[in-house]
Amino acid sequence: MKLWTGRFHKELDKTTNDFNSSISFDSRMAREDITGSIAHATMLGSCGVIDKAEADAICKGLEGILADLESGALAIDPNAEDIHTFIEAELTARLGDSGKRLHTARSRNDQVALDVRLYLRGQCETLRGQVAELVRVLCKQAKEHSGDVMPGYTHLQRAQPITFGHHLMAYAEMFLRDLSRLEDAQRRMNVCPLGSGALAGTTYPLDREMTASLLGFDGPTHNSLDGVSDRDFCMELASAIAICMVHLSRFSEEIILWCSWEFKFIELDDAFSTGSSIMPQKKNPDIAELVRGKTGRVVGDLTTLLTMMKGLPLAYNKDMQEDKEAIFDAVDTLHMCLTAFIPMLDTMRVLPENMRKAAARGFINATDCADYLVGKGLPFRDAYKVTGALVAYCIDHDQTLETLPLEQYKEHHELFDQDVYEAISLDRCVNGRKVLGGPAPENVRREADRVLAMMEEKKA
Ligand code: ARG
Repeated sequence: MKLWTGRFHKELDKTTNDFNSSISFDSRMAREDITGSIAHATMLGSCGVIDKAEADAICKGLEGILADLESGALAIDPNAEDIHTFIEAELTARLGDSGKRLHTARSRNDQVALDVRLYLRGQCETLRGQVAELVRVLCKQAKEHSGDVMPGYTHLQRAQPITFGHHLMAYAEMFLRDLSRLEDAQRRMNVCPLGSGALAGTTYPLDREMTASLLGFDGPTHNSLDGVSDRDFCMELASAIAICMVHLSRFSEEIILWCSWEFKFIELDDAFSTGSSIMPQKKNPDIAELVRGKTGRVVGDLTTLLTMMKGLPLAYNKDMQEDKEAIFDAVDTLHMCLTAFIPMLDTMRVLPENMRKAAARGFINATDCADYLVGKGLPFRDAYKVTGALVAYCIDHDQTLETLPLEQYKEHHELFDQDVYEAISLDRCVNGRKVLGGPAPENVRREADRVLAMMEEKKA
């Protein structure tokens, strides 16, 4: 039986009922719906809008429904229109007239706006915990590998020497920003729309501050039209999640490259790799590939939300029912990806010898060679030219800057001396880059400790 039967002469067409229904995806908000209703009923009782004893009965009835849902004694009716309708109907079946009073001074429009906020607020907590854990794992790995020299790349061409720890800490920075975006999204969504009614508030003397505080919100929303039709909080969270997925995806791309025989910078643990059904030698980084692939669907979720909202006049429109599948998918996907990604990262084996070998080829110390000449008084532009010619000479003669005899150096410029070999040694190049934000091992350790201390503070 539908809520709106008074005005109608017929039941909704069966197929259309399925089309119209959201129960298949909004029943995950059962707990939030009940929590919200308990707060609403408590407030109605306290303000004298309904009888206090009846309010108590409603709260007890709702608690019973929650307990039965959680124990499995009560199953959600798949034919119900949505979770709000189902719970109200169940309450009424249990309590009779008292159950019918719950919806006084409320609409499903403010109810759904409340439920989604409550649900996503909880999800934000979970995701923040996971991203914080990821940052901690990164810091731990970065400290272990603070001195492992590897090539830094631009255009995927070997560019300048860095340390593996420094590379990992670059991701720690990205995930720290993701963390702060999730915190922002959670903070901004933490306002209570209950009392906005269908769109125009209500004539009942509600205490909106009370419901807001009972539900742990920072306060009530301040415009009834906005209260029911704002989905910024979904778009904002989806956007924070999509950015985080993009970071995970870039990282995944690197992990995939690093696992290849062409790089072999790392090896993933067997527990986080897969084999091939035909090629016995294969060990595939499927988890990283899936994370990269799933980023596409999360970007899609964000696009869905933005596009769904862009043409909607105030206030509620049924289009908004589409918000849930998109934002839930984004939340679930990031959650799943992090659940697999974090232990994969934690257990990966790093192969520093291969990184160093790659760093020893490709002239990544050419900038340092130029800087050596600058140190001897040559202007940088001239030093750059001389070094460029040296590199070209080495390539033509199958040499590296490390193996090139001093006479050849001197032929290119008289300022070169024996100490050039020391100046262009990889360790010297990396250790010398200790400017704030640079890759020197001591920097990496300091930065990792700084971030770990920040994470400890967040925990406290
Ligand atoms: N299932 C609906 C949604 O998710 C609940 C709100 C229904 N309100 C309405 N006026 N039809 O948006």
